[in-house]
Amino acid sequence: MPDDFERMWSDLAPLGRSPSSGGYFRQPFSGSERECHAWFVEQCAARGLRLEHDGNGNTVGWWDAGDGPAVLTGSHLDSVLDGGAYDGPLGVVSALGAIDLMRERGITPARPIGVAVFAEEEGSRFGLACLGSRLATGTTTPDQARALTDREGVRIEDAMVERGLEPQLGKADWLDDVGCYLELHVEQGRDLVHRDAPVGLASAIWPHGRYRFDFAGEANHAGTTAMADRHDPMLTYAMMALAAAKQARLAGGRATFGRLDVGPNATNAVPSRVTAWLDARCESDEVLTELLAVIEKQAGERADRDGTTVAVAAESVTPEVRFDEDLIARLVAGRPVIPTAAGHDAGVLATAGIPSAMLFVRNPSGVSHSPAETAETADCLVGVEALADALAELAR
Ligand code: GLV
Ligand code: MN
Ligand code: MN
Ligand code: MN
Repeated sequence: MPDDFERMWSDLAPLGRSPSSGGYFRQPFSGSERECHAWFVEQCAARGLRLEHDGNGNTVGWWDAGDGPAVLTGSHLDSVLDGGAYDGPLGVVSALGAIDLMRERGITPARPIGVAVFAEEEGSRFGLACLGSRLATGTTTPDQARALTDREGVRIEDAMVERGLEPQLGKADWLDDVGCYLELHVEQGRDLVHRDAPVGLASAIWPHGRYRFDFAGEANHAGTTAMADRHDPMLTYAMMALAAAKQARLAGGRATFGRLDVGPNATNAVPSRVTAWLDARCESDEVLTELLAVIEKQAGERADRDGTTVAVAAESVTPEVRFDEDLIARLVAGRPVIPTAAGHDAGVLATAGIPSAMLFVRNPSGVSHSPAETAETADCLVGVEALADALAELAR
């Protein structure tokens, strides 16, 4: 198994990797993300797993053993812009490795086991994280998905057709047969490093909101306009970003402005408009709501001072998710159980009523959504073994 595991990594390593940063650009329904899906299809075929594609861009490889509700595992193969190697692919590669290990051990499951690859988990193209699993569970409706566009104005169904897929957005039948979901993922922090543990379990996912802030002011000459005469929306944005960071610290939460769009975007012009996207996460739904209210209030006050305006729209708000306590108790085996502030398809499935849990593999750098994301091979192999044991237990 270790050799096959290494081989899977070396197959995936070049797909969508930037030669300059070493990071990954696997945008959903882009060439490199579809190459990753094609790789997955080959891996399933080589193992005799039956393939099922749904009209949302998700793919499942089924080990059709036994009967009864299926045990689902897997993750995603898309990445954020300039992402790391492990966020997503580790769950898929480990799922295939776990099936190999179960077979090496002569284990025959009494229920079907599925390996899922969900589409657009990161929301890096259409702005809504976990779009594939949200559509498949019915958490997001086809019309809500159709209203989304990427930065070029392309809609999801057109993006799918361009890659030769046949879109049929909406609730997926294959999920009806799923009894539970277990997703393995690289840890996106350093809790397991501090606890000196190669593998842990997730207890919960923090609530998460994505908000769009539109600031409007007055374009003017950067040289001739006195500072006192400006209505500069960039200044309003900048002051608000500082205030948001302070408020997030006070709330024990997180506030990030990772994306900006400026008009007219010229060095020698005071901008006329700035759009900024806030990603905010907190321990509880109440604290997140309060944090957003304070940031919005301070943005409005600052806009009044600057003679600019601000409008705020929530693009998505995902409430807290608590993973299934019975599953955690069955799988814990003395491992640490830790909450996370990162979103996952497991959270969407849990919200849709499918008992779900997650295994995390230690990440020495603690860094994620960056080329600096890391995981040691030895820890990944402990993860595969933990996943194989868990699948065998759940599919007994
Ligand atoms: C997705 O990985 C997210 O938590 O942003
Ligand atoms: Mn992920
Ligand atoms: Mn991610
Ligand atoms: Mn994620």
